[in-house]
Amino acid sequence: MAPKREFTWKELSSLNQEDNAHVAVRGKVYDVSTFLNRHPGGKDVLLIGAGSDVTIVFETYHAFSDSVSKVMEKYYAGELISDEFPTFPERGPF
Ligand code: HEM
Repeated sequence: MAPKREFTWKELSSLNQEDNAHVAVRGKVYDVSTFLNRHPGGKDVLLIGAGSDVTIVFETYHAFSDSVSKVMEKYYAGELISDEFPTFPERGPF
Protein backbone atom coordinates (compact mmCIF):
# COMPACT_ATOMS: atom_id res chain seq x y z
CA MET A 1 0.00 0.00 0.00
CA ALA A 2 1.45 3.37 -0.95
CA PRO A 3 1.90 5.75 1.97
CA LYS A 4 -0.79 8.40 1.97
CA ARG A 5 0.79 10.78 4.38
CA GLU A 6 3.04 10.79 7.38
CA PHE A 7 2.14 11.24 11.02
CA THR A 8 4.52 12.00 13.85
CA TRP A 9 3.85 10.52 17.30
CA LYS A 10 3.00 13.97 18.52
CA GLU A 11 0.42 14.46 15.81
CA LEU A 12 -1.04 11.02 16.39
CA SER A 13 -1.41 11.71 20.09
CA SER A 14 -3.67 14.68 19.32
CA LEU A 15 -6.03 12.59 17.18
CA ASN A 16 -7.83 11.13 20.14
CA GLN A 17 -11.35 12.51 19.95
CA GLU A 18 -14.53 10.81 18.86
CA ASP A 19 -14.81 12.97 15.75
CA ASN A 20 -11.14 12.53 14.90
CA ALA A 21 -9.89 9.22 16.21
CA HIS A 22 -6.71 7.68 14.80
CA VAL A 23 -4.79 4.62 15.98
CA ALA A 24 -1.48 3.08 14.92
CA VAL A 25 -0.85 -0.61 14.26
CA ARG A 26 2.63 -1.75 13.22
CA GLY A 27 3.68 1.64 11.95
CA LYS A 28 0.49 2.33 10.01
CA VAL A 29 -2.04 4.93 11.05
CA TYR A 30 -5.77 4.33 10.71
CA ASP A 31 -8.54 6.90 10.90
CA VAL A 32 -11.23 4.99 12.77
CA SER A 33 -13.59 7.94 13.32
CA THR A 34 -16.25 6.52 11.02
CA PHE A 35 -15.59 2.97 12.19
CA LEU A 36 -16.29 3.55 15.89
CA ASN A 37 -19.93 2.57 15.68
CA ARG A 38 -19.24 -0.34 13.31
CA HIS A 39 -16.44 -2.00 15.23
CA PRO A 40 -17.56 -5.48 16.32
CA GLY A 41 -15.42 -5.06 19.42
CA GLY A 42 -17.17 -1.82 20.35
CA LYS A 43 -16.50 1.87 20.30
CA ASP A 44 -15.02 2.17 23.76
CA VAL A 45 -11.86 0.17 23.11
CA LEU A 46 -11.14 2.26 20.04
CA LEU A 47 -11.65 5.48 21.95
CA ILE A 48 -9.35 4.27 24.72
CA GLY A 49 -6.69 3.54 22.12
CA ALA A 50 -7.27 6.66 20.03
CA GLY A 51 -4.17 8.79 19.65
CA SER A 52 -1.79 5.95 20.35
CA ASP A 53 -0.16 2.78 19.16
CA VAL A 54 -2.55 -0.14 19.73
CA THR A 55 -0.46 -2.87 18.10
CA ILE A 56 -0.26 -5.09 21.16
CA VAL A 57 -3.90 -4.85 22.21
CA PHE A 58 -5.02 -5.10 18.57
CA GLU A 59 -3.09 -8.30 17.98
CA THR A 60 -4.29 -9.75 21.25
CA TYR A 61 -7.92 -9.44 20.19
CA HIS A 62 -7.83 -10.16 16.46
CA ALA A 63 -6.61 -13.22 14.65
CA PHE A 64 -4.18 -12.41 11.83
CA SER A 65 -6.68 -12.76 9.00
CA ASP A 66 -7.46 -11.35 5.59
CA SER A 67 -10.94 -10.31 6.67
CA VAL A 68 -9.66 -7.99 9.38
CA SER A 69 -6.88 -6.65 7.11
CA LYS A 70 -9.44 -5.85 4.41
CA VAL A 71 -11.52 -3.83 6.83
CA MET A 72 -8.44 -2.01 8.10
CA GLU A 73 -7.37 -1.04 4.60
CA LYS A 74 -10.45 1.12 4.26
CA TYR A 75 -9.38 3.22 7.22
CA TYR A 76 -5.68 3.46 6.35
CA ALA A 77 -4.59 7.07 6.67
CA GLY A 78 -0.78 6.99 6.44
CA GLU A 79 2.50 6.02 8.01
CA LEU A 80 3.72 6.67 11.51
CA ILE A 81 7.15 8.25 11.34
CA SER A 82 9.39 8.37 14.28
CA ASP A 83 12.85 8.92 15.51
CA GLU A 84 11.68 9.07 19.09
CA PHE A 85 10.31 5.58 19.70
CA PRO A 86 10.68 2.29 17.89
CA THR A 87 7.71 1.24 15.76
CA PHE A 88 6.58 -2.31 15.11
CA PRO A 89 7.71 -3.64 11.75
CA GLU A 90 5.18 -4.97 9.26
CA ARG A 91 4.19 -8.51 10.01
CA GLY A 92 6.00 -11.30 8.21
CA PRO A 93 4.46 -14.57 7.04
CA PHE A 94 5.25 -16.42 10.32
C1 HEM B 1 -7.94 -0.63 20.42
C2 HEM B 1 -7.71 -1.76 19.84
C3 HEM B 1 -8.77 -2.78 19.54
C4 HEM B 1 -9.37 -3.67 20.39
C5 HEM B 1 -9.12 -3.86 21.87
C6 HEM B 1 -10.33 -4.44 19.60
C7 HEM B 1 -11.15 -5.44 20.09
C8 HEM B 1 -11.97 -6.23 19.34
C9 HEM B 1 -12.78 -7.30 19.84
C10 HEM B 1 -12.88 -7.70 21.32
C11 HEM B 1 -13.42 -7.86 18.79
C12 HEM B 1 -14.34 -9.07 18.82
C13 HEM B 1 -15.77 -8.67 18.96
C14 HEM B 1 -16.69 -9.86 18.94
O1 HEM B 1 -16.31 -10.94 18.48
O2 HEM B 1 -17.80 -9.67 19.38
C15 HEM B 1 -13.04 -7.13 17.60
C16 HEM B 1 -13.50 -7.40 16.33
C17 HEM B 1 -13.10 -6.72 15.19
N1 HEM B 1 -12.29 -5.62 15.16
FE1 HEM B 1 -11.31 -4.82 16.70
N2 HEM B 1 -10.29 -4.01 18.31
C18 HEM B 1 -9.36 -2.98 18.24
C19 HEM B 1 -9.02 -2.26 17.11
C20 HEM B 1 -9.51 -2.49 15.84
C21 HEM B 1 -9.13 -1.74 14.66
C22 HEM B 1 -8.16 -0.55 14.66
C23 HEM B 1 -9.80 -2.29 13.61
C24 HEM B 1 -9.79 -1.90 12.16
C25 HEM B 1 -9.65 -0.67 11.73
C26 HEM B 1 -10.59 -3.40 14.13
C27 HEM B 1 -11.40 -4.20 13.37
C28 HEM B 1 -12.14 -5.25 13.84
C29 HEM B 1 -12.89 -6.16 12.99
C30 HEM B 1 -12.98 -6.09 11.47
C31 HEM B 1 -13.48 -7.08 13.84
C32 HEM B 1 -14.33 -8.27 13.40
C33 HEM B 1 -13.40 -9.47 13.43
C34 HEM B 1 -13.91 -10.68 12.73
O3 HEM B 1 -14.89 -10.59 12.00
O4 HEM B 1 -13.25 -11.72 12.94
N3 HEM B 1 -10.40 -3.49 15.48
N4 HEM B 1 -12.16 -6.14 17.96
